[in-house]
Amino acid sequence: MKDKQNQTYRSDFAEEVLQGLSSYPKKLPSKFFYDEAGNVLFQKIMNMPSYYLTNREYDILRKYKSEIADLFQDDKQGFDLIELGAGNGKKTKVILKYMMENGFDFTYKPIDISDSVLKSLSASLSKELPHLKVAPEVGEYFKVLGNLKEYNTRKKVILFLGSNIGNLLHEQAVDFLSKLKDSMLEKDMLFIGFDQKKHPQKILDAYNDDTNITAAFNKNILNRINKELEADFDTDKFLHWETYDPESGTAKSFLVAEEAMQINIRALDQTINFNQWESIHTEISQKYDDQIIGWLSKKSDLRIIQSFGDQNNDFKNYLFKKSEIS
Ligand code: AVI
Repeated sequence: MKDKQNQTYRSDFAEEVLQGLSSYPKKLPSKFFYDEAGNVLFQKIMNMPSYYLTNREYDILRKYKSEIADLFQDDKQGFDLIELGAGNGKKTKVILKYMMENGFDFTYKPIDISDSVLKSLSASLSKELPHLKVAPEVGEYFKVLGNLKEYNTRKKVILFLGSNIGNLLHEQAVDFLSKLKDSMLEKDMLFIGFDQKKHPQKILDAYNDDTNITAAFNKNILNRINKELEADFDTDKFLHWETYDPESGTAKSFLVAEEAMQINIRALDQTINFNQWESIHTEISQKYDDQIIGWLSKKSDLRIIQSFGDQNNDFKNYLFKKSEIS
């Protein structure tokens, strides 16, 4: 069973890698950053002072935990707390702890693409909050979306933290939010973290640290192709390049070939040619403001219940319900 699943996943990877590298301009989906090495690098990113997103959202959850948790349980009924892309749960634990200490009736359901990430999250939760009911599920959250409809025996509160939504183009975000909305009943809630527009240099610094951790994270996608598809990328021949457009609020990551080269992907029996200075677009990290979020929620038939920002409004979390007309 496991082999079969791995096989399917591997072929998705092969298909999308080949499609992306055969396109012009070349691109690779950022969801493929997260193999074991990528997860370790992402943990390091979240601990970098320049990657302000994690700490600012942590500040928000610490400051407003009681207001947020009380909104989650506004009808005093039990609920399922479903987290998409749970990661190490550092921020969520603030809320989980508060809710456990205050006798809330809930089950925590973390969903993550990585089995090992979920295992270490579950292990740390059983130590730190031994009485918490945890029901983890491995899966790509886009795929798990369909199952969410089945969680309708009691209220559900869906968490999507870390500005993970920013890795989607607006059109994909509307599609994703609309699907979440379709899985929700009237009383259900959605709590999302959105990184905000701010001084462009601060954004560039978050994605272009001088310790080169983000560069290693970006290049890891090439290592993964080498490992899983028997390719021969020399990552030293690629530059990590970050841009930020203050008008659209879109930060983009690229890998830029410093010389012309030919890459063999043995498992696919393919050769990919690079011209000197040709790029691979690997990620977008969208930054938001109230206007964009208002537009996104309207397009997705969601309504904003409340928002919470940190001291400088560098980061904001929004609580949504289904729009009454949907
Ligand atoms: C997971 N995601 C929200 C991160 C971001 O900020 O776009 C991934 C990341 N990429 C580079 N640094 C962090």
